[in-house]
Amino acid sequence: MTEAIDISVDFAGLRLANPVFTASGTCGYADELADFIDINQLGGFITKSITAKPRKGNPTPRIVETDAGMLNAIGWANVGLDKFIEEKLPVIEKLSVPVFINVAGETISEYIAVVERLAAEQTIAGFELNISCPNVEKGGINFGTDPEQVKEITSAVKKTCGGKMLMVKLAPAVTDISVIARAAVEAGADALSLINTFTAMVIDIETRRPVLANKTGGLSGPAIKPIAVYLVNKVYNEVAKQRRIPILGMGGIRNASDAIEFIIAGASAVAAGTANFIEPGCAVKIIEGIKKYCISHNITNIKDLVGSLGTG
Ligand SMILES: Cc1cc2nc3c(=O)[nH]c(=O)nc-3n(C[C@H](O)[C@H](O)[C@H](O)COP(=O)(O)O)c2cc1C
Repeated sequence: MTEAIDISVDFAGLRLANPVFTASGTCGYADELADFIDINQLGGFITKSITAKPRKGNPTPRIVETDAGMLNAIGWANVGLDKFIEEKLPVIEKLSVPVFINVAGETISEYIAVVERLAAEQTIAGFELNISCPNVEKGGINFGTDPEQVKEITSAVKKTCGGKMLMVKLAPAVTDISVIARAAVEAGADALSLINTFTAMVIDIETRRPVLANKTGGLSGPAIKPIAVYLVNKVYNEVAKQRRIPILGMGGIRNASDAIEFIIAGASAVAAGTANFIEPGCAVKIIEGIKKYCISHNITNIKDLVGSLGTG
């Protein structure tokens, strides 16, 4: 029955079979969830952050559970561009799902180095620019909190994308997220993804020290969901709607109801992150749940649900 419903979406000119992604950093490079789900059932897949050089990441412990969420301070641990191309790209080449490469770096030239090498790869649908990671000393969020820097990095990367889609991932803890979103769009972003995590701390009261070796980490999971929904709605109303820029909404999504909230708020697509650690197959369940919702609410085209938040 649910097969008859078409929930495909046009995401910045790219046709996605459905609006459900997995979020960067929570599902590896491509095939790590293969024992649990068929990745090709997703609307889109986003790799963990790739940097020009390999990174060990921050010292451990670098994750800790919180009430309704978790903190992570992974610090972009990844194999680096060369090994990614050698070992992971061949796996990605076999997938039919659109794959986005999440790119990070300490300097603009590092971001460019990654994008330049991957721009000609047929198998890659686009890039997600991580300028919102709170867990590194250099780069990351430092690019994503100042509109001038957002413009500079976005336009520099856009020039090297080879026409592939560029999605800019926004940090939530800024004075006005719409100012940052506008800067990204004016500099050439084709899509926006939001939100990344909030800097936070957990303290061990016996040692009176932070639990994470990095002291702070990024808060994710259900605890941040209402803030994420609000920020998606704000960016949709103030920036994305008029300019027809699609939003990939994320932050605490665990099930179809959560995903539908984001879509009503203005997201054209959604991503599940932290929820994958609890239920690795959750993204596929979310797709089915969205279809069921559309049937029971007589929605024939999911696009009618995007930004359909009532007022008053
Ligand atoms: C363990 C972990 C690792 C993450 N790594 C990355 C990353 O490499 N790059 C990135 O842009 N975001 C990363 N994120 C942020 C998520 O992609 C997402 O923006 C955030 O967690 C909010 O969604 P959620 O509440 O569904 O997890 C990471 C999140 C977690 C929990």
